[in-house]
Amino acid sequence: MILKRPSEIEIMAEAAVINREALEAVAAAVRPGVSTLELNAVAEDAILSRGGKPAFKGYRGFPATLCTSVNEVVVHGIPDDLRLSEGDIVSIDIGTFYRGYAADMARTFAVGAISVEAQRLLEATERSLTAGIEAALAGNRLGDVSAAIQGVVESEGFWVIREFVGHGIGREFHEGPEVPNYGRAGTGPVLRPGLVLAIEPMVSQKRTTVSIANDGWTASTADGSLAAHFEHTVAITEDGPRVLTQETGTGGGVHGA
Ligand code: MF3
Ligand code: CO
Repeated sequence: MILKRPSEIEIMAEAAVINREALEAVAAAVRPGVSTLELNAVAEDAILSRGGKPAFKGYRGFPATLCTSVNEVVVHGIPDDLRLSEGDIVSIDIGTFYRGYAADMARTFAVGAISVEAQRLLEATERSLTAGIEAALAGNRLGDVSAAIQGVVESEGFWVIREFVGHGIGREFHEGPEVPNYGRAGTGPVLRPGLVLAIEPMVSQKRTTVSIANDGWTASTADGSLAAHFEHTVAITEDGPRVLTQETGTGGGVHGA
């Protein structure tokens, strides 16, 4: 695994701020009637206007700035002109390159009012990410992160998607190590300061496999159950996990309430 110098982590933090601000711009546009292509345009403008470059566009042929994954789509949904409806959930995954470094982030949003069960899925998935981040301590092992995520998900009666994992991130969008969202505490490589991880639990309502659509990307639950996805880019430091994608920029916030 590649360890970053403090100066590199500062650049990654800048990439992460651009990425987070772009996701906030998308969040403000999520509503019934908006299309995922419109959300994609919001994200692309926000990244480019801040001097970043969309990381996903062109990555292994992916055609867009965002992955927009609606309802039973777990990840890698391709933006299109279909409009979101009240009651949908939509996972927005966004990546930015800035000065040669990447940031990666995802969040599942409610479109208008959603079912209690869907809300519970979103909250449990976000809480599992928080638990994973809290375990991302120098000296811990990677399996501690994985087990913390799995523990929260399964205690809520939900299912950890196995087919996709988190990853190291830096000059490459995907670096080692892989970060599974299930596993055993006390196993795996030791986490060291300078390691930067994209931690990204994907969770479905029920135990299921994932199937990939003919477009080669769209990954849906085989049983049609809803899925959620939350992701942060996190640097391991001597002082604990530094969540780069939730830091606020030095230039001051642009998004009022
Ligand atoms: N966050 C996703 C990941 O880590 C990024 C999607 S990859 C792309 O795999 F190809 F869709 F860009
Ligand atoms: Co990722």
